[in-house]
Amino acid sequence: MDIKEAIRHRRSIGKVKSDPVDKALIEEILEAGIWAPNHCNTEPWRFWVMTGDGRKLLGRGYAEVAAAEAGEISEEELTQRRSAQEKKAFRAPVVIAVAVSPSDQHPVVPEIEEYAAVHAAVQNMLLTAHSLGLGAIWRSGAPTYQPKMRETFNLQGKEEMVGFIYIGYPDMPAPPKAERVPFEQKTVWVSE
Ligand SMILES: Cc1cc2nc3c(=O)[nH]c(=O)nc-3n(C[C@H](O)[C@H](O)[C@H](O)COP(=O)(O)O)c2cc1C
Repeated sequence: MDIKEAIRHRRSIGKVKSDPVDKALIEEILEAGIWAPNHCNTEPWRFWVMTGDGRKLLGRGYAEVAAAEAGEISEEELTQRRSAQEKKAFRAPVVIAVAVSPSDQHPVVPEIEEYAAVHAAVQNMLLTAHSLGLGAIWRSGAPTYQPKMRETFNLQGKEEMVGFIYIGYPDMPAPPKAERVPFEQKTVWVSE
């Protein structure tokens, strides 16, 4: 697919079929991720590909965050909340958790640039998923950044989760009304 076409027509696809996705396609998506620009070649990304019961890992993360925030509620209510959270991880047949692992070897690279590189990796991955005929959405939400989510994925030091890419074959038409403020309104041209 032409790059301009992919950029212009990629949309977040939140509803996908439960049909499995070939491992080769997931590998293409990961390969696209690691070719993102990154300052001093720190390659600060980490990925967890969750399929099948592997998605329980993320489900546990959501549930642990919810339990930590629940306050004083009954056992029954807690069980209900945990199970509602666990289900969220099963909204797509493939979920890729993406984290930033900032390098401490390159003082010239501020942490913000390590995040920038990983965010660029996610965009590469979304565009590649789209070009492969897959639907994908970058999901975050408050649980993403909570200590219990970090613990669940065993993140260390300055490592942080940046989001979860939910991937599968689209089960919805591309949202028809995708709008952007024209770049003219966001741009100043400076020529002298
Ligand atoms: C950092 C980040 C986090 C996001 N988190 C969510 C999310 O938690 N839930 C969601 O439905 N969409 C999420 N999105 C997707 C946006 O809602 C989506 O990109 C936006 O509506 C524009 O639509 P488009 O991607 O189809 O152009 C996120 C996007 C970014 C960049």
